[in-house]
Amino acid sequence: MGQIRFLLDGVPQAVDGADPTRTVLEHLRGTLRRTGTKEGCAEGDCGSCTVLVGEQAGDGVAWRAVNSCIQFLPMLHGKALVTVESLARDGALHPVQQAMVDRHGSQCGFCTPGIVMSLYGKAVRAQGSEAPPAEMLAGNLCRCTGYSPILEVARDVIREAGPQVDLSEVTDDEPLALAYADPVSGLTRRWFAPRSLDQLAQLASDHPEAVIVAGATDVGLWVTKLRKPLETLIDIGQIAELRRTETVDGGVWIGAGVRYVDAMETLTALYPDLGRMMRRLGSTQVRNSGTIGGNIANGSPIGDMPPALIAAGATLVLNCGGARRRMPLEAFFLDYGRQDRRPGEFVEAVIVPQPQPDLVFKVFKLSKRFDQDISAVCGAFALTFDDGVVASARIAFGGMAGTPKRAAGCEAGLVGQPWTEAAVEAAMAALEADFTPLSDMRASAAYRMLTARNMLRKVFLETTRPEQAVRVEPESARG
Ligand SMILES: Cc1cc2nc3c(=O)[nH]c(=O)nc-3n(C[C@H](O)[C@H](O)[C@H](O)COP(=O)(O)OP(=O)(O)OC[C@H]3O[C@@H](n4cnc5c(N)ncnc54)[C@H](O)[C@@H]3O)c2cc1C
Ligand code: FES
Ligand code: FES
Repeated sequence: MGQIRFLLDGVPQAVDGADPTRTVLEHLRGTLRRTGTKEGCAEGDCGSCTVLVGEQAGDGVAWRAVNSCIQFLPMLHGKALVTVESLARDGALHPVQQAMVDRHGSQCGFCTPGIVMSLYGKAVRAQGSEAPPAEMLAGNLCRCTGYSPILEVARDVIREAGPQVDLSEVTDDEPLALAYADPVSGLTRRWFAPRSLDQLAQLASDHPEAVIVAGATDVGLWVTKLRKPLETLIDIGQIAELRRTETVDGGVWIGAGVRYVDAMETLTALYPDLGRMMRRLGSTQVRNSGTIGGNIANGSPIGDMPPALIAAGATLVLNCGGARRRMPLEAFFLDYGRQDRRPGEFVEAVIVPQPQPDLVFKVFKLSKRFDQDISAVCGAFALTFDDGVVASARIAFGGMAGTPKRAAGCEAGLVGQPWTEAAVEAAMAALEADFTPLSDMRASAAYRMLTARNMLRKVFLETTRPEQAVRVEPESARG
């Protein structure tokens, strides 16, 4: 087939022979001349390129705000797109746009289209937009610092606005499915979009060199920033089996294609502190695209999910040619940039256990900015107690080694000890033997060690002196 088809404002679009690593933003601006959507950073940070993407969900269309600068064009296949140009009708601004004008929410205006699209996303109740305004807008940066009026618009006006784009009349007729495994035509690169797990297993075996693309919130940057020539890509976004979140023996199965936005409710219910951390992972746009599977598979030492999931005792499910193998998540991370993943193997799911009722589970993310920033250190703690004595301890850190890693000495130092300040101090000291962190632009080695130690102290304080606030959270900015 080799054609990318999607709906723009409900009108079918067909793109032949595109480079599959061309971004949606490049297509919008360069080909369609929809230049309202801006390019600020080209790496998913600033939100000036925000568009809404809709995909079929049951009988309806589920909308998400995404960063078009790091979405590859074929990822739009079978989906619907609206941009800032879609909003004004018959010469009248959309209420969100009008409110931005009325409340002086725009100064130089460069960030404005992206902010309007995020606010519009809230107006149409797009996925992830139920968050408080400041949290919902964390992925939209304004260099002119016009945040107060923008937040006013978000708080006061958007609830008045309603959706203006109805896709129902076109989604029925237009085939919204990509024929699996057909490369986009006329290119030196190949883009495969399998539609079943079996097809993915076959493709991954046949093309072990292929780059798997889930949400592209990492892979997109390899193209836009690193200029990597990716020759063969496998998009797993069309595989319903990988989108499953369901209760299974041993916990909750989260398929590798499940995006953060779709897993947050479940994970928050299981581990409230994990949900709290996830609200700071990337931005609405990043969580609307990125997957937990991608966060694990990329093996980054500073990914936020692995420490928390390791502490929770998660199991990773890998698939190679249809044969599954399971391992404790921590075993997947062998060394910096090296994971226990065989040629042709892919991440199929992660199984997150149900917490036992008396489990103390804490996650602390330390980053320079509160929202939308990569962690310098992320520490996760899962502890149980028996009559004031530590019965079990699973403690894992990101940012402290070349991989996400358990704090074996610290854990051993705690188990069997009374939960006292002295025992905690000793376990904090044990972290010095567990880790030899690096200094980099995010933090010095000494600062990392100090904060890792203090995270354990925070766990102690939160469990023994709950009245003492140990977390600084700009709650006032979130209402
Ligand atoms: C602005 C911005 C902010 C961010 N903030 C954070 C943050 O706060 N915390 C954080 O941890 N991360 C953050 N990230 C990084 C990124 O969003 C996450 O790592 C995300 O989970 C990646 O998922 P994805 O689906 O987008 O993966 P992709 O980019 O599609 O893939 C990532 C890697 O995993 C591989 N891969 C994906 N799925 C599979 C699979 N099923 N099997 C095998 N390999 C696979 C890909 O080949 C690639 O190597 C941020 C990124 C951006 C752009
Ligand atoms: S251009 Fe900055 S997020 Fe896309
Ligand atoms: S109005 Fe200038 S960047 Fe936001």
